[in-house]
Order: sequence, then structure tokens, then C-alpha cells
Amino acid sequence: MDESGVSTQDTIIIFDTTLRDGEQSPGAAMNIDEKLEIARTLEEMGVDVIEAGFPISSPGDFRAVQRISQEIRGCTICGLTRANRKDIEVAAQALKDAARPRIHTGLGVSDVHIRHKLRTTREGALEMGVDAVRYSRQFVDDVQYYTEDAGRADLEYLYRVLEAVIDAGATVVNIPDTTGYTSPDEFGTLIRSIFDNVPNIDKAVVSVHCHNDLGMATANTLAGVQNGARQIEVTVNGIGERAGNTSLEETVMALRTRRDAFGLVTRIDTRHIYPISRLVSELTGIPVQPNKAIVGRNAFAHSSGIHQDGVLKERTTYEIMNPRDVGVPDSEIVLSARSGRAGLRHRLVDLGYTLGEEQFEKVYERFLEVADKKKTVDTRDLEAIVADEVQVFFQETYHLEQVQVACGDHSIPTATVRIRGPNGEVFCDADHGTGPVDAVYRAINRVIGEPNELIEFSIQAVTEGINAVGRVTIRIQTEDPVKENGSELRVFSGRASDTDIVVASAKAYMFALNRLIAARREAQKQAEA
Ligand code: KIV
Ligand code: ZN
Repeated sequence: MDESGVSTQDTIIIFDTTLRDGEQSPGAAMNIDEKLEIARTLEEMGVDVIEAGFPISSPGDFRAVQRISQEIRGCTICGLTRANRKDIEVAAQALKDAARPRIHTGLGVSDVHIRHKLRTTREGALEMGVDAVRYSRQFVDDVQYYTEDAGRADLEYLYRVLEAVIDAGATVVNIPDTTGYTSPDEFGTLIRSIFDNVPNIDKAVVSVHCHNDLGMATANTLAGVQNGARQIEVTVNGIGERAGNTSLEETVMALRTRRDAFGLVTRIDTRHIYPISRLVSELTGIPVQPNKAIVGRNAFAHSSGIHQDGVLKERTTYEIMNPRDVGVPDSEIVLSARSGRAGLRHRLVDLGYTLGEEQFEKVYERFLEVADKKKTVDTRDLEAIVADEVQVFFQETYHLEQVQVACGDHSIPTATVRIRGPNGEVFCDADHGTGPVDAVYRAINRVIGEPNELIEFSIQAVTEGINAVGRVTIRIQTEDPVKENGSELRVFSGRASDTDIVVASAKAYMFALNRLIAARREAQKQAEA
């Protein structure tokens, strides 16, 4: 029993992999401060396990796992490895300072993975897995084993692997539907059959890790827990490889809202769900679709007259959850330039943002600028402002001081920019382009000179009306600064908001370029070390 009288048998362990599988979404790469910010929020909301990264995959991932291990004391911190000794040693080193470290090792169990990816036999793969668990246990007491592509594996072989790795010391066994192939019925039956066929299964926690290729990740995960799994692997907003992973918000709210059906609880304070969804979307540059369950812009919006009438008479006519329970802010509350620091701070706390003094002052300055241009500043304006200031966590090499454009249907779009460089020197340059944004980007390129290709540009009105704050998200592609021969391409995202969309576009581009420069500098440092 825990302190609230709930049997721990009935508590689902939430394993969040936003920082590992989630970060594998194309263009979602985050810097260490951004990852730490997400990890802090995950800790605050009551996540049990944070998979902080794949330490051997890059020096940045190593340092992120290391920093999160040092600073986040309330969660188990987990690092991913392949089933080999070098990966395990590096992960153990990155996790060294964690209060509760966990190594997550494993390899494929389906014949297609064993034959074509691992190029070995079932027996060979089993031996590698057992050795990886034994070796991991020399460093940590908590070892999770993943049976990659379990959704397409031969069942008898899967049972044998599970029995062997539990005997070798695995404390958690992860059953991934890596390719999102199974249906809820099949996946539930698979999990049940593990309990029926693996003799020592009571010595490990069974975890489920589902991908969303056929849109069934949440349903499969819930089928897993209905059949005995007690840990679920999720990401905020469901981000992750390809179509993504099971989403934290959907599973947690399904378990809570339908406790009558599932009879299970989590330790999550659900009021953090909406703020963390916004934070992850802002930091990864991956927008949340408007009709996304729980956290989409329309998730609690009632549009038809019949629905509005019903909700006004009695909220529960069309709402199965209270928006406040997931931290969806009360959109009625608006601020103006007269609201002052106290009003702004109060509203930010309401929205779940805890900002340091310096960050708060930056947000306040931006708030005044926006309030000056618009009569009122509402929740979504504020979210955009905070997101901009939170991203300034990382060191800018070049700072955009001024941007000016001239355009029109009878003139050549021309832009002038003033940029402060790394040593305080100021550069002014101008160029023309096919449109105002193109002209600005060309002018910036003349100053910074970092070769790259713009592969995505999107603009969204954060709020309605002519004075709306516009949010620009871009992605640029360049040769990977970490690869010595530069043969791989790497994507950097940038985002910014402003009431002037050309200014927002310029800031978003500067953000992406600064990230690219920071990654290149980091790669050089590593090469010299
Ligand atoms: O999808 C998958 O199988 C994974 C494993 C590495 C756990 O992400
Ligand atoms: Zn995965």
C-alpha cells in the first residue's frame, strides 16, 4: 500500500522517454538546458522513470544523461544501450551520479531483426542479451531489458529470452511493439501469454513500449496494462520515431478518467499535462495537432450551438474531463499593460511556469512590448512569450539587433539586418530576395555565412485578429557538424514569435543558426579533447 491507501499492485509506473525515443523525431533535437527543463517538469509532475538519452550515441546525449542524473533526484534516471559492453560502460559512467540509476539494454527478438539487423542466430542473440544484463548488473542494481520488435517475434523464443534475462538479473522486461504492428487484442493476448509462459516473470516488472504506426499505440498500451503490464513507456505529445510513441497525456488521462474500467492509478499530478505539452512542443518545434486528444487546441472547445448550449447548462453534457484537471488554462483571463509584475507572475504560476528572476524579467519586458501593440495579452500570447524566453537559455553566438524590410507589389523585397557578433562587434548588411523573408534570410547569411538549406517554414497565428502574435517554426538542414567527414545531414529547428511575422521569421532563423553554430563548436571541442 502507498500513503493514499492504494495497493502498489494497482499503480502503473510511468516511464517517460520523451528525451530519448521522443528526441528521435526528425528535427526534435534539444540542447542540454532544454532537456533539463523538461526533466524538471517531468519530475515535478510525478513521472517515475525518465529515460534521459542514449549515452554512447553522441557526446551531447552523454552529457544530458549525466546532468539529468546529477540534478533530478526524485525519479529513476535511465540510459539506453545496445547489448554490448562498451555501450553499457558509457551508460554506467553517464548515470554514475544518479540517485536511482537504471540501464536499459537489449536487442531484437524477431527473426527479421536477428537475421538482417543483428546478422546472428536466435541462440547468438540470446547469449548477447544475457551477457549484457549480467554486465549491466555489475554497475547498477536496476536493469531493464528490451526485446525489440517483440510484436513480430516467435512467442516460444520470446518466452525463452525473457526467462533467461530475468535469471541473469533483469528487474524490468520491456515488451516493445517497435513497428506499431499489433492490434490491441493481439498485444493484450501477447502480454497475458508472457505471464502464463515465463516461469520467473513474477521477479520482474513487465513494461510495454508501443509505437503508433497504425494509430493504435495508446489502445495497445492500455491492453497491455489490462493484461498485467505495470510499467508503460510514453512520451509527451506522443512524439518519437516515425509516427511516434504512446502519448503520456492520453494514457494517464484514460487511466484516471476510466478508473472504473481499469482499476489502476498513476502518481502523475495531471495539472502539469498541458504546460508540459506546450513546453515540449515549443522546445522541439513539433506543433500539436489542434484535435489532439487532451492537449490539442480544440480538445475542450465546443463549437456547435447545441454543444455550447449543453455545456453552459451543465459542463458534463459534453466534457468527460475537467480541463482544469489537465492544466488547460482558463482562457477568459487576459492581461494588459496595466497588469504589472504581480499580475503577470500570478498568471504565469497559474499556467504552471516557475521562472527564475532573470527569466521573469525577460518575459515581463516582452509582455510589455506585446501589450503595447495589442490591447490584451491572453494565455496563448503568454505561452508564446515564455517559450521564446525559455529557449534563450542557450548561449547565442550572434544576436539579431535590428531587422528592417522594404517590400510591396512594385518594389524588390530588400532587407537590412544589424547583428552583434561573438566579440561584441556589430555587422550591418543588406540583400534582396523573392519576398521579405527570403530577403531577410539572405541578409543574415551574408553576415553569418553558415551554409544550410531551409527545409521547412511554417507560420501560425497564436491568437486571433489583426494584432495576433505570429509564431514561426523553421527547420534548416546542414552537413552534420559532429560527423568528421560531414557525410550525414542534420536538422536544426528554430522558432520565435512576434506580432510582426517578418521579425518572428528572422528570430527563428537566428535561433536555428545559433544552434547549428553551438553544435559545430561542441564537435570541435570534442575533436580537440
Ligand atoms: O521501439 C523500440 O523497440 C525501442 C527500444 C529501444 C526500447 O525504442
Ligand atoms: Zn521505441
